[in-house]
Amino acid sequence: MISVSDGFGGRENSVTVRRKSTPQEKVPMTPDVVSRFLIVLCGGVFLGGAGWAQARVEVSDPDVLGRHHGMETLQQSAAVIARMVAGTRRFDPQIAAAAANGLADAAAEIPAQFEKRADDPLSEARAEIWQNWDDFVGKASGLKQAAAAIDPSSPERLRAGWQDVARRCAACHDKYRED
Ligand code: HEC
Repeated sequence: MISVSDGFGGRENSVTVRRKSTPQEKVPMTPDVVSRFLIVLCGGVFLGGAGWAQARVEVSDPDVLGRHHGMETLQQSAAVIARMVAGTRRFDPQIAAAAANGLADAAAEIPAQFEKRADDPLSEARAEIWQNWDDFVGKASGLKQAAAAIDPSSPERLRAGWQDVARRCAACHDKYRED
């Protein structure tokens, strides 16, 4: 199975199939792009566990470790919803609602996790975060609002809410995470 590193796939894959993103490749988040993003996410989930465990061992800066941990928490809640939307997990409104709450809570933690400009050889955080701090915080709060707005009452509504969330993960990674 192949995963790429432009969304939030496993770190180990990014060594072999790392794709340099060029400005021409930055396309708007059309439904197709969202689907691709979803596939990237699911690929990362199925492949990723070992990679993240390894990354956790290798990162030595405690603040960088903390924000990686926060992103992994986000990822876990996102994966629950993504799998329901993709049909690889049975739709369950209560579980979806709990995952959406988990996402909103984890998103609320982002500003505090990045406030200190910590660095580590394995960090993928770009310097632009601290040059555009208000914009970065705005993107975190946009994600929190999108997660809180997820309506898990039907698969269709969950899908719509998920697409808004996935777009926001991608928008922040495109600008503030190295690829
Ligand atoms: C406000 C900006 C922002 C938003 C929104 C955001 N991320 Fe991130 N994410 C980052 C940055 C910056 C990094 C790189 C951090 C580092 O390496 O120090 C990152 C890294 C990650 C990582 C890799 C962590 C690791 O251990 O290497 C995962 C997984 C991830 N994000 C998942 C998500 C998911 C899922 C969402 C949406 C539900 C999301 N992110 C939304 C900024 C964001």
